[in-house]
Amino acid sequence: MPGLTEQVRQWLPSSGRWFLTICIVFLMTLTLLQWTSVSFFVSPSVDTLPIDLLQVVDGRADEKNCIDCHVQAEQFHATGHANALRRSTSTESLELLANFEQCDPAGTEGTVVNLQAALPRAENSSGDSASQISLDWCFGSGRHARTWVATLSDSQGATDLLEFRWTWFRDIDGFDITPGQPGKHFATHLGPFGVLYDQSKARRCFACHSSYLAIDDGRLRLEDIETGVNCQRCHGLRGEHVASEGAVHDDFWKTASPVEAVNRCAQCHRRPEETGAAEIRPDDPDLARFQPVGLVRSKCFTASRTMTCTTCHDPHLPLDVQDSLGDWQCLQCHDSSNTNDTLCGASETENCLQCHMPKVGSDAPVRFSDHWIRVR
Ligand code: HEC
Ligand code: HEC
Ligand code: HEC
Ligand code: HEC
Ligand code: HEC
Ligand code: HEC
Ligand code: HEC
Repeated sequence: MPGLTEQVRQWLPSSGRWFLTICIVFLMTLTLLQWTSVSFFVSPSVDTLPIDLLQVVDGRADEKNCIDCHVQAEQFHATGHANALRRSTSTESLELLANFEQCDPAGTEGTVVNLQAALPRAENSSGDSASQISLDWCFGSGRHARTWVATLSDSQGATDLLEFRWTWFRDIDGFDITPGQPGKHFATHLGPFGVLYDQSKARRCFACHSSYLAIDDGRLRLEDIETGVNCQRCHGLRGEHVASEGAVHDDFWKTASPVEAVNRCAQCHRRPEETGAAEIRPDDPDLARFQPVGLVRSKCFTASRTMTCTTCHDPHLPLDVQDSLGDWQCLQCHDSSNTNDTLCGASETENCLQCHMPKVGSDAPVRFSDHWIRVR
């Protein structure tokens, strides 16, 4: 039997071989580009504003100024956006990790967390000192979940990131495997602690959970990160606006079409066109994590031509103070006192969300409201 390459050689004429080689090189280059930061930071087909904005220093206003003139700043500190990222040494993070300390190592695959060190440290319960890692950041506001990460320097000094294998979930008030991590951990010395991501993926995590990133040759200056999604992350840099007491302003949110407005939120909540056709099925519970993808498929969105994310959400208020589970959201357009409105075909007059926008979940202990509003 000839070897595989030999078989291919016999089978293809030499021009075919060249063609095959060119195809392989082309595909490899594409894959490489996907892996590097190139596609994330300068992809021309997407609205890059907030990503570029993340690294700009000039023209930034001090966020503390906004409250002098805008009520929007009063309760903002309590929103999920404001709390999307914090240091692992913050009180909220340490309180949760203290519960991890009480977990039975058998249930956490032999991993324990040591809170005696300067930074919380994941260790192997067997005391193997070669295998331990310092968790330095805590992602998520805790409304659904919190996940810790460890930042590490690669051989060139760029910042990589290890996503901890264990996530705290509010629904169980305890720890379980981080969504997206493999059932069985990798057999490397860091494998038991989680999955290691390269610098480009590391940057992406921080990019969606913060508002200013300083990057020197791939190294994230962690001490300078402005954590959370703040006013200027959604409204653009406001130095001149503050200096001119509002005379210089920006009308994006007033003039944007519904699709443009949804796409702005979708920069982090996931853009419909980033989602593969095969993934977009109404019965896929994972899709509920990506609100824009489902919402733009709803008849409410396509037929009303006025719906945006802010039809139901005030991004300046925490969910619990804006009656986010109320029927008022639907009655804006399906109101029985308005003869033009389409009413519920099942003649229901309340609990709209329960039947048309229920909370759904996959295997992780976390559930999301399905924004693909429809008859089920
Ligand atoms: C000294 C007062 C003052 C301060 C401080 C201030 N603003 Fe304003 N802002 C205004 C005024 C006045 C308007 C109304 C401008 C108009 O629409 O004509 C305005 C409008 C806005 C608008 C709506 C119109 C637009 O430009 O998008 C946003 C958003 C906004 N401000 C954000 C901010 C943020 C964010 C901060 C903090 C970094 C801030 N403002 C600080 C006075 C201020
Ligand atoms: C997650 C994105 C987001 C964040 C963060 C955010 N805003 Fe807004 N803001 C919006 C959107 C969207 C609108 C337009 C609202 C609408 O369409 O009803 C808006 C509108 C405004 C307006 C204009 C209100 C009006 O009636 O015209 C002001 C002023 C404002 N925001 C200030 C702020 C301030 C101050 C902060 C920080 C404390 C902030 N925003 C944080 C998304 C955001
Ligand atoms: C820079 C990235 C980013 C942008 C832009 C963004 N979000 Fe978010 N949003 C997040 C993150 C991260 C969270 C998760 C916070 C957490 O951990 O609970 C979140 C949470 C939320 C929540 C849950 C609220 C809560 O208080 O827990 C709502 C609702 C929401 N976003 C709506 C919007 C809307 C509407 C827009 C556009 C006006 C928008 N977001 C733009 C990143 C973003
Ligand atoms: C494209 C933007 C984006 C990237 C990249 C990203 N996140 Fe998020 N993350 C979000 C948004 C948006 C939410 C809010 C999801 C929701 O509540 O629907 C969120 C929520 C979370 C939460 C809270 C749990 C939840 O689902 O609400 C955690 C924890 C988290 N992210 C961790 C991470 C980590 C760790 C990374 C990197 C491995 C990462 N994120 C990368 C946008 C992003
Ligand atoms: C028709 C009303 C409506 C519209 C429009 C809408 N949402 Fe929601 N959203 C809801 C409801 C209801 C909830 C559940 C609130 C709760 O659990 O307190 C929710 C929850 C969320 C959450 C929290 C995650 C969860 O499931 O607990 C995020 C994030 C979010 N929406 C983002 C968005 C984004 C981004 C858009 C625009 C693409 C959007 N929403 C448009 C009604 C709406
Ligand atoms: C901005 C206006 C608007 C809002 C807000 C809105 N809808 Fe709709 N909705 C529409 C329009 C317009 C249609 C199409 C009606 C028609 O075809 O006669 C529609 C259609 C529907 C349908 C039929 C869907 C189908 O596939 O046939 C359902 C179910 C529905 N809406 C439920 C809701 C619920 C539940 C809410 C609140 C979570 C809601 N809508 C909020 C405008 C809206
Ligand atoms: C108990 C479940 C249930 C509740 C609660 C419910 N619906 Fe429905 N809704 C349905 C079903 C089932 C249909 C499909 C009826 C049919 O086609 O015969 C439907 C149909 C609809 C339609 C499409 C009507 C059409 O002619 O295309 C709209 C719009 C709608 N509902 C809005 C609402 C609103 C708004 C609320 C809250 C006030 C609500 N629904 C509460 C089950 C429910």
